[in-house]
Amino acid sequence: MATWSAPGKVFLFGEHAVVYGKPGIAMSIKPRVMVTVRHSRYFQRPNSPYIAECFKLLDIKGSVYVRSQLPSASGLGSSAAVTVATLFAINDEFQLGYSRAEVAELAHEVEKITQGGRASATDTYVSTFGGMVLIRGEEKRRLIPPQNLSIVIGNSMVSHNTSEMVRRVAEFREHSPAVANPIMDAIGAITMEAMHNMENHKELGNLMNRNHALLEALGVSHPALSNLVLAARSAGAYGAKLSGAGGGGCIWALCSKGSRNRVANALEDCDAKTIITTIDTEGARKEADL
Ligand code: PMV
Repeated sequence: MATWSAPGKVFLFGEHAVVYGKPGIAMSIKPRVMVTVRHSRYFQRPNSPYIAECFKLLDIKGSVYVRSQLPSASGLGSSAAVTVATLFAINDEFQLGYSRAEVAELAHEVEKITQGGRASATDTYVSTFGGMVLIRGEEKRRLIPPQNLSIVIGNSMVSHNTSEMVRRVAEFREHSPAVANPIMDAIGAITMEAMHNMENHKELGNLMNRNHALLEALGVSHPALSNLVLAARSAGAYGAKLSGAGGGGCIWALCSKGSRNRVANALEDCDAKTIITTIDTEGARKEADL
């Protein structure tokens, strides 16, 4: 039996644009997914298509048990975390000998297959290695994370579907490239500007607000998400934006230590479920077996 865990993530900047080769920054956060894999003659088809694809890709039969503190389908990278933890657990239990970098690549492969071909390596990479990561096309760079990040997540509880949102953006880009492409370029420019302002929380917050406005222009926000980002900003957050594919799911707010409880209360007043957290610098790790 082998048990591995992997962290969730928030997109600091660049979701959607990253699918088209623009830079994106993501970081892993504290809630984790734990997956136990065991040798077994009987293969029960897993409920999750991501887990099923992991077993299929590695041509392995076994039993699997998942415990997650991450809400699923909410933009916090739970599918990537499940995929990464499952692959590490299979790798360990069946002594397959893949390196960390190889598992990250396999996890990206699983996400691509399961999401109909379109998935950046962001979620799977950050969940594998932890910390903060810049993704641009094939380039993946681990960044030195800023100090004292107070993050409040607001889950709108509106479920979303990543593949569907990615498909909608692709359609928008096909029909209106003259509108969609400059939005993507501007999101990419914001990400690069953020790289030079990592220790300046106030400026990062401003850039988050601009990024959120551009995601609204791309058509991937939702009234519940717009409501939450406004509530977080009014309660004193430096900035707030949706995280991930949008259309539902979560927003995250960058806060000072002194304002995080106030921001969380404001989000709860809007019926959101909240998590107060910070960066998780550890990626996938082996856990004690049950
Ligand atoms: O909603 P999530 O956590 O699966 O994030 C999706 C992020 C996108 O940029 C929209 C897609 C991708 O593969 O990067």
